[in-house]
Amino acid sequence: MTKKLIAKPLIKQIYADLKTEIIDNGFAPKLVIILIGEDPAAEYYVQNLVKKGKKVGIEVTTKLFNVDITQTQLLTEIEKLNSDANVHGVMLQKPLPKHLDESEIVMKINPQKDVDGFHPLNVGNLVLDREGFIPSTPNAVLEILKYYEIETSGKNIVVIGRSDIVGKPMANLLLRKNETGNATVTVCHSRTQNLSAIIKQAEIVIAAIGNPLFVKADMLKDGAIVIDVGVNQIEDAKKGYRYVGDVEYEASFDKVSAITPVPGGVGSVTTAMLLKNVLKAYKLLHG
Ligand SMILES: NC(=O)c1ccc[n+]([C@@H]2O[C@H](COP(=O)([O-])OP(=O)(O)OC[C@H]3O[C@@H](n4cnc5c(N)ncnc54)[C@H](OP(=O)(O)O)[C@@H]3O)[C@@H](O)[C@H]2O)c1
Repeated sequence: MTKKLIAKPLIKQIYADLKTEIIDNGFAPKLVIILIGEDPAAEYYVQNLVKKGKKVGIEVTTKLFNVDITQTQLLTEIEKLNSDANVHGVMLQKPLPKHLDESEIVMKINPQKDVDGFHPLNVGNLVLDREGFIPSTPNAVLEILKYYEIETSGKNIVVIGRSDIVGKPMANLLLRKNETGNATVTVCHSRTQNLSAIIKQAEIVIAAIGNPLFVKADMLKDGAIVIDVGVNQIEDAKKGYRYVGDVEYEASFDKVSAITPVPGGVGSVTTAMLLKNVLKAYKLLHG
């Protein structure tokens, strides 16, 4: 097995397949991202999506609203996107301003356009192993496991983090009775006791904490496989800042049998999986 589980070869294949399918069939998928207020990090993320979308023939546009948009106004805007036949995916950039009720807004998005997979209908479908949209980040982790032929069946997998967008869907996906499932899954969080001892038992560790370099090399089992979902900005003497994961990458490298780098790992595959969902939405909406 390759030790460094890099995204590059895998996303190259995904983007090539997407492009071919879209061009060969004359498809015109479109994703609209709802942005509320100005947020440089969100804008950077969106710019990247626009660029990647363009390469494969997916139009990615944004709808920018003022931070003082009301709940009713936003729900009306979502209704318009729901009924626009030229829009196939609708995505809400988070976090939302405090005065907005996120769960009502997510509920308003047509589940068939919910490419993030956050609508309760899609969450339910995921848990019940039924067809629907799978959130891009846990889906990216599965894609990495599949691409690098990492066996999950019967394996002790520890997921650190229980968020609605990563940890919970991740754990449910790993429990599925399929080629990237059948694992024995333990989910840890901030109230977990004896975290180090639990991680030490894991043949595969999936870290989604949001705490830079939190998982130390000595917490890992020898030969473990590490999938690092974390993306954390830290200070860097030369560049000002840089990104690191939730796991001590360098110190763990000799100890583990494989590990995803940050950047260049899960994050890059996540973008590709999101665009894949947009194509899926297009095909759903066009029968
Ligand atoms: N690569 C990508 O595409 C991608 C996508 C999404 C997120 N991310 C990154 O993944 C990380 C997690 O994101 P998220 O949205 O899931 O974050 P989140 O909503 O903040 O959830 C973090 C989870 O980690 C748990 N946690 C926090 N401190 C802990 C500790 N000391 N010990 C054990 N568990 C602890 C929290 O426990 P509690 O539930 O008890 O609070 C929570 O369940 C972030 O770095 C984020 O930037 C990357």
